[in-house]
Amino acid sequence: MSAVFERAARAAAAAPATSGVDPAFARDVLAGLSMQHKSIPSTWLYDHRGSELFEQITTLPEYYPTRTETWILERCAAQIAAEAGRGAIVVELGSGSSRKTPLLLQALDEPSGYVPIDISEQFLDESVQALARRFPALPMWPVVADFTRLNRLPVLSHGAPGGRRLVFFPGSTIGNFVPEAAVGLLERIGQAVGRGALLVIGADATQDRDVLIPAYDDAQGVTAAFNKNLLLRINRELEGDFSPSAFRHEARWDAQQHRIEMHLVSEYTQRVTVLGHAFRFAAGESIHTENSYKHGIVRFQALARRAGWTQKQLWMDAQSRFALHVLERDR
Ligand code: AVJ
Repeated sequence: MSAVFERAARAAAAAPATSGVDPAFARDVLAGLSMQHKSIPSTWLYDHRGSELFEQITTLPEYYPTRTETWILERCAAQIAAEAGRGAIVVELGSGSSRKTPLLLQALDEPSGYVPIDISEQFLDESVQALARRFPALPMWPVVADFTRLNRLPVLSHGAPGGRRLVFFPGSTIGNFVPEAAVGLLERIGQAVGRGALLVIGADATQDRDVLIPAYDDAQGVTAAFNKNLLLRINRELEGDFSPSAFRHEARWDAQQHRIEMHLVSEYTQRVTVLGHAFRFAAGESIHTENSYKHGIVRFQALARRAGWTQKQLWMDAQSRFALHVLERDR
């Protein structure tokens, strides 16, 4: 083990002692800033403010995925409903306040249940309340959980009605996972819902740099604010002393790995403290804060296959920027 890593491990072990601090957040930040290539997992971008800023991103002219996926769903929801059959139980992963869920629910033939799973209780409550007004007859069983760590869905195994399970996983969230982790997640989802279940999943497809860079570095600077919010969150929750103006937001396209990376780049040499631990930044050194994979159709299908999902339907926009895959669990 390297000296830096040992220091990170000690720092992480010490972190839970500080009261009011989320130990998982402390561990990820202290370990991430101790690495040779500094990086912090993208889940930490989504505190309440981060989720608000992301909602704002989805309305930007440059950010094509949300608009495109909604456009696709408006046109294919009836065919998905036909595949699902009567009485389907819809499980939604990372339920947001999206426009997409009602599009699917209203197309389905007498769905027998809706199980939204989200890490934020507040977002879950808000979206369930809004949906309950539109679909008063639909039973809803919200689950507060981190779906990336979920391997069983108790709500589906105990006395749940018998329709087909349909997992709805929109928004290209799967793109945040490196391919190996994406396979693992899709496999666990499959195990939770079982053979014959459907997975309706949105995956980003474009490889066009001229579309991608503006989508992740918009003219109004909303994506920059979303990225820098992580520093403010560290300041607030982990006794950090980051100066957000000492870092600039950067979106990088890695054509080999088919992914957009978000970075926070240090404008000059500086020293920052988090929970009493000091970290040095060279000028131009960055913190890698997010990956967003753009797999394309063939690579995504191969990845889903490895996780036990077979393609049933595939829907895209005219410019092939975004894909909505309908897959069936084969084991
Ligand atoms: C919510 C992960 C799908 O990767 O496009 C948007 C997050 N980051 N702009 C994406 C995001 C910067 C978004 N996902």
